[in-house]
Amino acid sequence: MSTAVVRGLGGALPGKVVTNHHLSAVMDTTDEWIRRRTGIVERRHADETESTSVLATLAGERALASAGVDSAGLVIVATSTPDKVCPATAPKVAANLGLNGVAAFDISAVCSGFVYALATAAWAIESGSTSSALVIGADTFTRLLDPTDRTTSVIFGDGAGAAYLAAGTPDQPGAIHASTLHADGDGESLIQVPRGAGSFFEMQGKEVFTQAVTAMSGSLQTVLDSAGWTAAEVDSLIAHQANLRILNAVASVAGIPAAKAEVHLDRVGNTSAASIPLAMTDAATKGHRTPGDRVLLTAFGGGTTWGAIAMTWPSISVVDPH
Ligand code: COA
Repeated sequence: MSTAVVRGLGGALPGKVVTNHHLSAVMDTTDEWIRRRTGIVERRHADETESTSVLATLAGERALASAGVDSAGLVIVATSTPDKVCPATAPKVAANLGLNGVAAFDISAVCSGFVYALATAAWAIESGSTSSALVIGADTFTRLLDPTDRTTSVIFGDGAGAAYLAAGTPDQPGAIHASTLHADGDGESLIQVPRGAGSFFEMQGKEVFTQAVTAMSGSLQTVLDSAGWTAAEVDSLIAHQANLRILNAVASVAGIPAAKAEVHLDRVGNTSAASIPLAMTDAATKGHRTPGDRVLLTAFGGGTTWGAIAMTWPSISVVDPH
C-alpha cells in the first residue's frame, strides 16, 4: 500500500487588510477586546474579483509550483462558500489550472474542510486510485457575515491554502501517518447559514468554544495512538486558527506545550477551510519546521465536524502569500 506524502504547499490571501482598528470604527468593539479574547490583530476581506475559486486557483498554482509539478490526478476543494450553489467549485479550479478531465469535487465541512479533504485524498492515494492529488481549502465567509454582528465580524477572514500530495513511503518527509474524521449533526445549529434571502452566518460562540476544545484534543489522542507517537514526541501542533484561547486550551488538554502550537490567526483571523494550509505555509515561510518533524493537524467546525491528522513535515519551499 502506498503512503500519501505532502510535497508542496501554497497560500493565497485577498489584498484588503482589515485591522481591529478598522472594525472598532464601524462597530461596538475595541482592538484591546479582540486581541485579548481572540488573539486576532487583522484579517483579509475578499473584494468582488476575489471569489473562492480565484483564491483557490492561486493557492493551488503555488502548491503545484512548490512541489515542482504541473498536474495532479485529483482535485479536492474544501469550501463552504462555493462560487455557486451548484456546480461545485473544484471543477472550475481544476480547469483554471489546466487540469481539465481530472476528477474534481468539493467537500463541505466548514472549518474542518481541509482536514476532511486531506484525509480523503490520502485514502485515494493509499487505495491506489490515484498517484497524486491537489487539496485546497478556500473560503470567503466575510461575504456572509452580518456587518452589525460584532461576535462574528471580528473573527473571520478570507483566504485559500493548498497542499499537493503524491504516493510515497512512510519514511519520507511529508508522509501522512494517521487520520481520524468525525461528525455530529445534532450540533448543526451551532454554526450555520440558514437558507433564505438575507441570511447571515450564525454562531453560538461559547458552545462552539467548549465543544471545539474537547473534540480537537480527543481526535489528537486518536491519531497519536494510531501513529504510535506520544504527545512528548510531537514537534508542532497546527490546529484550526479560530481563537488563540482555543489553541492554547487544545494544546494543554493534549499535553503539548503551547509554544509548539503554530499561531497564524493574528494576521488572518479564522479563514475556515483555508486556516490549516495557510498556517502550514506560514510555518514554512518562517522556517519554523525541519523536514521529518512530527506534526499534528486538527480542526473543528460546522456540522459539527472535526478530525485530526498525524504527519511528518515535508521538505519544501513556498511563496509567502502575505
Ligand atoms: N467586542 C467587544 N465586546 C464583545 C465582542 C466584541 N467583538 N463580542 C462579544 N462581546 C461582549 C459580549 O457582548 C459580552 O458582553 P456581556 O458580558 O456584557 O454580555 C462579553 O463580550 C463576553 O462575551 P462572550 O460571548 O462571553 O465572549 P467570549 O469570551 O466567549 O468570546 C468569541 C466570544 C466568539 C470570541 C468566543 O466565544 C469564540 O472564539 N468562540 C469560538 C469561535 C469559533 O471558534 N468559531 C469557529 C469555529 S470553527
